[in-house]
Amino acid sequence: YLVRFYQKRHRFANIPPGPKPWPVVGNFVIRRRFGPEADGSSKNAASVLTELAKLYGPVYSIYAGRQLIVILNGYKVVKEALSSHPEVFSDRPDIPAISIMTKRKADKISGIVFAPYGPVWREHRKFCHTTLRSFGLGRLSLEPCIMDGLSNVKTELLRLDAESGGTGVNPAPVISNAVSNVICSLVLGHRFDHRDQEFRSMLRLMDRGLEICVNSPAVLINVFPLLYHLPFGVFSELRQVERDITAFLKRFIANHLETLDPDNPRDLTDMYLMEISARRAAGEVDGGFTEDYLFYIIGDLFIAGTDTTANSVLWIILYMASFPDIQDKVQAEIDEVVGTLRTPSLSDKGKLPFTEAAIMEVQRLTAVVPLAIPHMTSETIEFGGYTIPKGTVVLPNLWSVHRDPNEWDDPDSFDPTRFLDEAGKLLRKECFIPFGIGRRVCMGEQLAKMELFLTTTTLLQAFEVRLPEGVPAPPLHGRFGLTLAPCPYTVCINPRR
Ligand code: HEM
Repeated sequence: YLVRFYQKRHRFANIPPGPKPWPVVGNFVIRRRFGPEADGSSKNAASVLTELAKLYGPVYSIYAGRQLIVILNGYKVVKEALSSHPEVFSDRPDIPAISIMTKRKADKISGIVFAPYGPVWREHRKFCHTTLRSFGLGRLSLEPCIMDGLSNVKTELLRLDAESGGTGVNPAPVISNAVSNVICSLVLGHRFDHRDQEFRSMLRLMDRGLEICVNSPAVLINVFPLLYHLPFGVFSELRQVERDITAFLKRFIANHLETLDPDNPRDLTDMYLMEISARRAAGEVDGGFTEDYLFYIIGDLFIAGTDTTANSVLWIILYMASFPDIQDKVQAEIDEVVGTLRTPSLSDKGKLPFTEAAIMEVQRLTAVVPLAIPHMTSETIEFGGYTIPKGTVVLPNLWSVHRDPNEWDDPDSFDPTRFLDEAGKLLRKECFIPFGIGRRVCMGEQLAKMELFLTTTTLLQAFEVRLPEGVPAPPLHGRFGLTLAPCPYTVCINPRR
């Protein structure tokens, strides 16, 4: 191991600098150097990695085990890598835990999020992207579905607030249900009642699966893949969770196959099944469009589209409650433009600049996917004055981009007006990239923006959200898992009329 490790260091003597790795584990213990947050919790990984850039420069390296990882910090280098050298920086690494679960082999790749950069990924991404767009604009429009879900959210929040006796509501489960239901409608053509037991247990399973993968000894599967097969503890629990989710999704696909009506596609699953038939009819033998592949695409959309959007909404609610003066201004704008006689709609987008600026400012400060999804170099490249070997894992540090002092004045302060010009019009800033940048940019960006806009405007039109009195204000640094989530909090929900 040591011989291979030092051979690698020597072969590319000019690899980016970085902290000295420990044998076997690499730089796993790096966080300890930076101490805890003010409330005693450990610093989030992205902010630790941003601090390291002050020591080693915007392009530096660390090791996870013997895997070389290069961290890109600040807008200039992230843009340079992902936009100017997309052919080199758009591959995904083979993460053992993911590969085992998605049955990834050299000749068989699955899904979109972790699929290697290449023709199969490209075709699937194009197909899903086009289909998602048609849901935003076409006859399968998702707006009524989102609004329907929000009407449940309002009722539930009010009910829970009344039951809380003034201590406030934890909005997380209600928001998470609504967001998951949007993905369900999109891919499965089915909206679940929020009390539906099967749906609730499916959400619990997904949460548990992610929790095990990110915050349990199961992360060691990435270093010792055979651990996945251990017959006890979190390892066997992970396999059970995987089996249950598989059974749930396969049931839906089977049901779609039985009831598919090509003249009336209900959802992305129907469209995909029709695409398989069309390709088979055209004589395509194995272009990658298969029912097996569909299964992983559905899984990807759930994983990529639920936690990210739900946490963004939860951050927006928390910031609005923590900055009541900003909330007041958002509400004044909604009252003026939308009024009280109707609920907000997508046609209001573009007419509520302060509200949109507030949403963007929360997204900037919280960078819900702070390190994007790991990229990998598909060939050796000279970059930023260093050599980055082929097969290096690359983490674009979006958190550092959103707090880059070269791009933002007073980057740590919460100030929506930075997204407005002097006339109060919305400014598009290139260095605002919560959805990433380049070929691997988020595929659900339009859908997510639609959800964030409708949710924020609908909830703030109806309610004033306030932090409960006598309870310490929740911290704004968040918990780092697969995404950056706010620490659990409660808010009081006061109807505005
Ligand atoms: C990838 C952010 C919502 C589907 C990503 C990436 C980011 C991101 C940063 C990684 C980009 C990279 O690797 O460089 C977000 C945020 C969201 C959100 C902040 C919500 C506010 C969604 C939704 C969907 C979705 C709703 C689907 C319906 C995807 C997919 C990828 C992705 C499929 C992988 C793209 C690829 O590898 O080609 N997202 N996302 N995301 N996102 Fe999102």
